[in-house]
Amino acid sequence: MAKFPKDFLWGGATAANQYEGAWNVDGKGPSTADMLIGGDVNTPRRFTKTIDPNAYYPSHQGSDFYHHWEEDLNYLHEMGFKVYRLSIAWSRIFPNGDDIEPNRKGLEFYRQIFKRCHELGIEPLVTISHYEAPYHLTEAYGGWANRKVIDFFVNYAQTLFREYRGLVHYWLTFNEINMLQAPFGAYMAGALPLEDGAELKPDTSGAGDRLQERYQALHYQFVASAKAVQIGHAIDPHNEIGCMIAGGMDYPLTARPEDTFKTDMADNMRNFFCGDVQVRGEYPPFAKRFFEENNIKLDFTDADRQILAIGTVDFYSFSYYSSGVETTEKNTDKAAGNQTVSTRNPYLNYNDWGWAMDPLGLRTYLNRVYGRYQIPLMVVENGLGAFDKVEADGSINDDYRIDYYQAHINAMAEAIKDGVDLIGYTTWGCIDLVSAGTGQMDKRYGFVYVNRNDKQEGDFSRHPKKSFYWYKKAIASNGEDLSND
Ligand code: BG6
Repeated sequence: MAKFPKDFLWGGATAANQYEGAWNVDGKGPSTADMLIGGDVNTPRRFTKTIDPNAYYPSHQGSDFYHHWEEDLNYLHEMGFKVYRLSIAWSRIFPNGDDIEPNRKGLEFYRQIFKRCHELGIEPLVTISHYEAPYHLTEAYGGWANRKVIDFFVNYAQTLFREYRGLVHYWLTFNEINMLQAPFGAYMAGALPLEDGAELKPDTSGAGDRLQERYQALHYQFVASAKAVQIGHAIDPHNEIGCMIAGGMDYPLTARPEDTFKTDMADNMRNFFCGDVQVRGEYPPFAKRFFEENNIKLDFTDADRQILAIGTVDFYSFSYYSSGVETTEKNTDKAAGNQTVSTRNPYLNYNDWGWAMDPLGLRTYLNRVYGRYQIPLMVVENGLGAFDKVEADGSINDDYRIDYYQAHINAMAEAIKDGVDLIGYTTWGCIDLVSAGTGQMDKRYGFVYVNRNDKQEGDFSRHPKKSFYWYKKAIASNGEDLSND
């Protein structure tokens, strides 16, 4: 029996603010991401209220996809991509967020990409909001903690559904919507205002914990997402619209019941809190106690309740990079994760940014989520951030990346055998791009190397790595041939 269904959607993913560059070109307004200075594994990214001409803002140039899109799409085609996940920069379409008319040049930029994708046999998968919003919405409205932002988002989403009817069939409303549950997401995901100079660390928002504000912002995003789903279906019944969750896989440190309980509750909060609202159309039972104990009082109307019930998603998508550990013990050895911090797992290896590599965790996660929702799943981010070395002959031998993908693709194949309805896989940063967490260009994920580094050296030229040819073979064999030779 084949490991993967014959129409399995193989591909890769990028996000506008990490990849496009051209941050102020052709009418684009500044986005929240454009106000973030680059950092590294030891230096947090920093927010500035105005652009400091002496500082380095990685999103301003990204990987310069804006001027390389034709070449890049050809590379994706050469690898045999069936799907390409990309995000639209909201401030390229509505520069301030509250504008009446969209920016035609922005709309045309994406239209030519979608048209070309179809010529190349690639299905676009569009994230409507990936860790950015027009910065004006933060300044003038306080970001997603303001109900008015729902209408701005819905108008933006409706514009996209109308403009790209027939060109785009797969959509995600918000990237990693559950990151608003973590302090780090306050600005990144929720566009909530920060103090000038605030640092973005995994365990702080740069301005306190802000639970009330974050959960209010999350609620408004749920409502905005549900409205968008409803409108997207009305405009084109062929639209398939998904949620996107940062997949959190956790293990108890010990067999003590307290550790298992804590792990289960963390799983509930991280994966099922948002999943339940977006897939089942209502908050999970455990939300009530959480809100009460944390004194969170939401502006939550009956109309909201109805729209959440109607605007449920067609599929559940998620990112998966690593796993964490939960315990009630204090003072454990800590390790970083995908914008989180956790206890170190002695049974796993870690990458240079301290992220655990855990392919079996992906299989467990797929089974767990499918068991709860039983709707199609898509892994829309997975990959290894690494320092790549360009050899004297120009080759880049990223066998470590191939190893990582082999193991994770095998884990997906096993999950499919377990009965999971997995419909697609888009690896993260298929062409090198800026890291969201650290702002580094040198933290690379791609099958294609982009000649640009953190010292802002390099001409943005593109160079396939060894993994490029490996992934091409993997796709051509529909996941049967994962050998590295
Ligand atoms: C996810 C985000 O959290 O992880 C991406 O959706 C991000 O935007 C990816 O790039 C990897 O994280 P990082 O920090 O290595 O870029």
